[in-house]
Amino acid sequence: MAILDILEFPDPRLRRIAKPVDAVGESEKALAESMIETMYDARGIGLASIQVNDDRRVFVMDVSDGHNDPMVFFNPEILERSGEQVCEEGCLSIPGVTADVQRADRVRVRALNLAGESFELEIDGLAAVCIQHEIDHLDGKVFFDRLSPLKRRMLQKRYQKQRQTVQ
Ligand code: NI
Repeated sequence: MAILDILEFPDPRLRRIAKPVDAVGESEKALAESMIETMYDARGIGLASIQVNDDRRVFVMDVSDGHNDPMVFFNPEILERSGEQVCEEGCLSIPGVTADVQRADRVRVRALNLAGESFELEIDGLAAVCIQHEIDHLDGKVFFDRLSPLKRRMLQKRYQKQRQTVQ
């Protein structure tokens, strides 16, 4: 396992689209385990492969209170979505900026776990937000893309300004 570097917006590599894995082998397991470690190190609740510059289709998530129950989703697919919720989202690839994003309240998702077994999960609330946010990353999207053009411009400006101050 290793702590991986997290790409930061506007890195063009965040626009890559992840490719489904044929199977969850040793190398895929190692990637997912390193992603879990990286997510905890960065104090995030989700992390997608694209964010660590790997284009295998996988994300990890831990929305448990104790931050001790990581889940791995290889080749995730949303089968159903229903309802609506607005949640304040942040992103490890866009540090220091958050925004209210509208998404489905409930999703049913199918994926392969760390053992390569298929599972389905129907879930709402924060976990549903996280799953939709991470699948967006696997499709080359960030939460800025979900905002109105005006709001996006405003937040991108704020983000750029903040980065210049830090550097
Ligand atoms: Ni993110």
